[in-house]
Amino acid sequence: MSKSLLEKTIVEEKQGEVFFKESNLQGKKKFYVESYGCQMNFSDSEIIASILMKNGFVATKEMYDSDLILINTCSIREKAEDNVRQRLREFDKVKKTRKGTLVGVMGCMAERLKTKLLEQEKLVDLVVGPDAYRDLPKLIEAAEDGQKGINVLLSREETYADISPIRLDSNGVSAFISIMRGCDNMCSFCVVPFTRGRERSRNAFSILSEAQSLFDDGFREVTLLGQNVDSYKWTNPETGAIVNFADLLKQVALVHPELRVRFSTSHPKDITDQVVETIASYENICNYIHLPVQSGNSRVLKLMNRTYDRDWYKDRIDAIYRILPDCAISSDMIAGFCSETEEEHQDTLSMIKYANYSMSYMFYYSERPGTLAQKKYEDDIPLKIKKRRLSEIIKLQSEISMAHNQRDIGKSFKVLIEGYSKKSDKHYKGRNSQNKVIVFPKTENHNIGEYIQVKVNDVTSATLLGEAVT
Ligand code: SAH
Ligand code: SF4
Ligand code: F3S
Repeated sequence: MSKSLLEKTIVEEKQGEVFFKESNLQGKKKFYVESYGCQMNFSDSEIIASILMKNGFVATKEMYDSDLILINTCSIREKAEDNVRQRLREFDKVKKTRKGTLVGVMGCMAERLKTKLLEQEKLVDLVVGPDAYRDLPKLIEAAEDGQKGINVLLSREETYADISPIRLDSNGVSAFISIMRGCDNMCSFCVVPFTRGRERSRNAFSILSEAQSLFDDGFREVTLLGQNVDSYKWTNPETGAIVNFADLLKQVALVHPELRVRFSTSHPKDITDQVVETIASYENICNYIHLPVQSGNSRVLKLMNRTYDRDWYKDRIDAIYRILPDCAISSDMIAGFCSETEEEHQDTLSMIKYANYSMSYMFYYSERPGTLAQKKYEDDIPLKIKKRRLSEIIKLQSEISMAHNQRDIGKSFKVLIEGYSKKSDKHYKGRNSQNKVIVFPKTENHNIGEYIQVKVNDVTSATLLGEAVT
């Protein structure tokens, strides 16, 4: 059983809510947590919440009413770090009005900056890296005694396998399951190997039991998370049997046919036909693959140390559409990497067309201290040009997304209802297997967390609009 149910005495009855009721506080301290960056960070905050709740804390949504403010941070681009620093200014206001409130920086910025963070940001009391969350209660105690609490040790083993995450801000329908940590790839632009350490895979049995208990608690979708899920590899210490990502995917799919399985992120160098065939074999494994290309040009890919080239990537795209004709593929792209020419930029644009991405996350290159690119190459593309290339990428992707969605008009899809649409509680929102958001008028005989057949009548470049047909 998940922690959120075990803790029922101190939580609201509302599904998925783990925030305390004033009457049940019983002298417990309150923590408030904000998360930035990738899904891994959001997933880690659920582990942090679990550790804190075992140690006498309850979660609050009121920053101004908390004894401990935590911010789980991202270092991927300069702007991500700027946002965090801005939030720290806001937390300072809380410290001024509520004496004794502690502020802790968790995650990638904590790991990247270490003690520098304590020097630069005087209000910070705790600095805790991604592999040191078990140490939080001890560090908090030290901070309460007026010392600065810091632990940024990276680990080769830590996967938090035994910790049942507390599902913060959950819709009670979809949840993340972290299957591995760290990254061994060393893409030259990327800070993650430095902030998250070496790659390690989590015990497969603990993943399956987490999926099972989520299903038992009413969840209907899990997303398996890792920086490079295709290199998941776990050896059963008792039998010596090796579980690869395709094996794991299959086992999670077998937990229950009504449990949808998603995963992120796939690396083009590692995604195998076996993985794609496994997706094809199980109806509940979603037909959606996030396969970041970063650049469509082979020379730039080499500089990026992505270890595949344009032809290799096209071959993977071809294999996916051959085995899974209905699969939607999405991507990440970086505009204006070191020394990228206009022709090389054109190769990224043509790849968007070739791969026919349903959507993409698009960025301009932001040099990160300590990365291979920062050490070896000059960040020589002027900001103005980076931004212009990025806007060309965004414009083309939004046309391709629009056309991709238009092809769905008239089709009907099995949709998992995730909640009400942002705009109105007369509309439900959910996603189809291809990970497209569908909004449709609420029907009386279907509830959140159920599957429903929805026919698409209209689209925007980001959303499908439809009506229930069951
Ligand atoms: N593990 C994933 C990516 C994680 S980071 C993968 O390998 O695909 C998410 C995305 O941020 C990356 O895919 C990349 O597009 C972008 N990114 C990473 N470092 C960046 C940098 N220095 N500047 C701009 N974008 C960056
Ligand atoms: Fe970064 Fe590359 Fe690892 Fe992704 S695969 S996290 S881009 S180093
Ligand atoms: Fe950011 Fe760290 Fe994720 S740098 S993208 S939060 S792994």
